[in-house]
Amino acid sequence: MKILGIETSCDETAAAVVENATVVRSSVVASQIADHHPYGGVVPELASRKHLEAITPVVAAALQQAGIAATGLDAIAVTRGPGLVGALLVGFSFAKAMAVSLNLPWIGINHLEGHIQALFLSETAPSFPFIVLLASGGHTSIYKACSPIEMIPMGRTLDDAAGEAFDKVAKLLGLGYPGGAVIEKTARNGNPKSIPFPRTYLDKTRFDFSFSGLKTAVRRYVQTHGTSSVEDIVASFQEAACEVMVQKLVQAAVSEKASRIAIVGGVAANSRLRQMAKSEAEKHGLDLFIPEIAYCGDNAAMIASAGFHRLMNGERSSVEDDVFSR
Ligand code: KG4
Ligand code: ZN
Repeated sequence: MKILGIETSCDETAAAVVENATVVRSSVVASQIADHHPYGGVVPELASRKHLEAITPVVAAALQQAGIAATGLDAIAVTRGPGLVGALLVGFSFAKAMAVSLNLPWIGINHLEGHIQALFLSETAPSFPFIVLLASGGHTSIYKACSPIEMIPMGRTLDDAAGEAFDKVAKLLGLGYPGGAVIEKTARNGNPKSIPFPRTYLDKTRFDFSFSGLKTAVRRYVQTHGTSSVEDIVASFQEAACEVMVQKLVQAAVSEKASRIAIVGGVAANSRLRQMAKSEAEKHGLDLFIPEIAYCGDNAAMIASAGFHRLMNGERSSVEDDVFSR
């Protein structure tokens, strides 16, 4: 079954052709980072306009790279939410119109389910059930994944998302946007043990997160000491953020007597997080799964893959369906 995936929830216009949930025929991602960079963050109206410009060429490129005509598709899967409404509308309306005009089945997909499905685009994918940490720019949550369409929420952030904390700390240090990758790069030259930033564990028996205290601690440190040791500041911040995420994930697995853990979402690209998770997983006898870097951040292959399972479950979207922001 050849599925066209479309993703426009934030600042990436993406399209992909995936066969049967796991075989990526093409995956095209047009990033708007350069457009939003001067503003220090994503400007929603600008994002919608850029999606509108990019959607037709990006879908055409995905079909061309897969060597398939639109009439050769079996279905279309598109991100329905959560995300920026104007941005979502561009991809969702495009997919809806394309499906109706080609008389194809189509399905709206939850972006977060797509991130989890990214695990199955790699050669080694987990079997169910497993405990998964989703760490992105808008979400930091832990789920028990019981099947491709059944995720039980175990915890979530009560304030900032992990990626949002990386972005805000980068902004206050004048490192630019988006913050995750630049913090990771800057942190390589810093000492992660130099500043004892707080680790907020909240209730140890639950799996919720809070990153606003850590962000505030970094701001206070900068107000008092300045930014001359920026490498040490970001290395220490990254260490604290990663430690909390990995510890919570491992605790969740232990509480569920699970033997497999996974990390997905844009923040899963972080090499310190990957390394720390690997050593903690070994310590606790857990198998760890993380998507390839290309499928950690927003992409449409993960949406097509999630679409396969929803379509197999008999689900279909209808022309009355609309996007949702939260
Ligand atoms: O999943 P994603 O691409 O989009 C959302 O669904 O939000 O995640 C984007 C987030 C941004 O906050 C970005 O700073 C963060 O992922 N990120 C990283 C890294 N690369 C991207 N955070 C830490 N380390 C990275 N290497
Ligand atoms: Zn995302």
